[in-house]
Amino acid sequence: MENLISTARKLVADHKGLLAMDESTPTCNRRFAPLGIPQTVDARRAYREWIIASPGLAESISGVILCDETMRQQRKDGTPFLKALADAGILPGIKVDNGTKELATHPGEKITEGLDGLRERLAEYSRMGARFAKWRAVIAIGESIPSRSCLEANAHALARYAALCQEAGLVPIVEPEVLMDGNHTLDRCRQVTEEVLRNVFIQLNCQRVHLEGMLLKPNMVVPGLDCLEKVAVEEVADTTVRSLLRTVPAAVPGIVFLSGGQSAEMASARLNSMNTRFHVRMPWALSFSFARAIQQPALEIWGGEEAHVVAAQQALLHRARCNHAARRGEYAAEMEPSKT
Ligand code: 13P
Repeated sequence: MENLISTARKLVADHKGLLAMDESTPTCNRRFAPLGIPQTVDARRAYREWIIASPGLAESISGVILCDETMRQQRKDGTPFLKALADAGILPGIKVDNGTKELATHPGEKITEGLDGLRERLAEYSRMGARFAKWRAVIAIGESIPSRSCLEANAHALARYAALCQEAGLVPIVEPEVLMDGNHTLDRCRQVTEEVLRNVFIQLNCQRVHLEGMLLKPNMVVPGLDCLEKVAVEEVADTTVRSLLRTVPAAVPGIVFLSGGQSAEMASARLNSMNTRFHVRMPWALSFSFARAIQQPALEIWGGEEAHVVAAQQALLHRARCNHAARRGEYAAEMEPSKT
């Protein structure tokens, strides 16, 4: 247990955060396609190689989340990615869910799969050197959803996964994502997020998960993408932190947000506002575990071209540094090149 606690604390120490680079093959290909990047094993390998090799990444990133394919890959010179990460002082984590399927008899709702054989897979990842794991549940908001059964089924699966991780010596990152799709208001997202988190912690307690040895990866509380309501950065910050204060026990060492499709700059600004406004009132570290909000600008610059790698690495480091600053409440829009 002491190992789990110290790893969980390390992941949120020194104002650092996580870089999620665990896109499944279909998701990674979907991000490559519009940029004309070949959808091949080697293009994905090359992409992950230059991300991991970005000089100074460890100054703002404590851990990266990989997918199974990346976990087993090497740099062009034959160095395993896991060794490159260890040399850089970055902890490796692994996405262990098998993605989502339609929840039977519940149109429009999803359940995450991957519990069968999970104990054996976790043992292998632990032997390979992983220190933490991630499982994502998705909750959609609609006219009469989410249903109670969807909330309970997903919370139960997250808790079963988390308990298995701790048994294997891996820190579970528990990710219940309330999706931004739809025209729901900020307040509706708040209600659903609070309900989701209440269910998740009931199930985590029921499965005897040690809260001190896990991290929570939630969505920020935001209006749906098609909602006409405009909300200020401070309103999102206040609503999100208040919801978390109501639902997340103080024993949890850290909360690491997903970005969920917000722009990279917006995600940094909101995280910064939360840390500025609630600095002294929060019992947990409030950090980030972004995928798109760190990778997307860099991916667009790279475009699959070797000649663009250095510029892409700079863009990636910039986003990592902006979020590192946001944890300290020191991010400002003026840090963005578009604002200077
Ligand atoms: P985004 O930050 O792009 O939402 O991804 C986070 C993640 O890990 C999704 O599972």
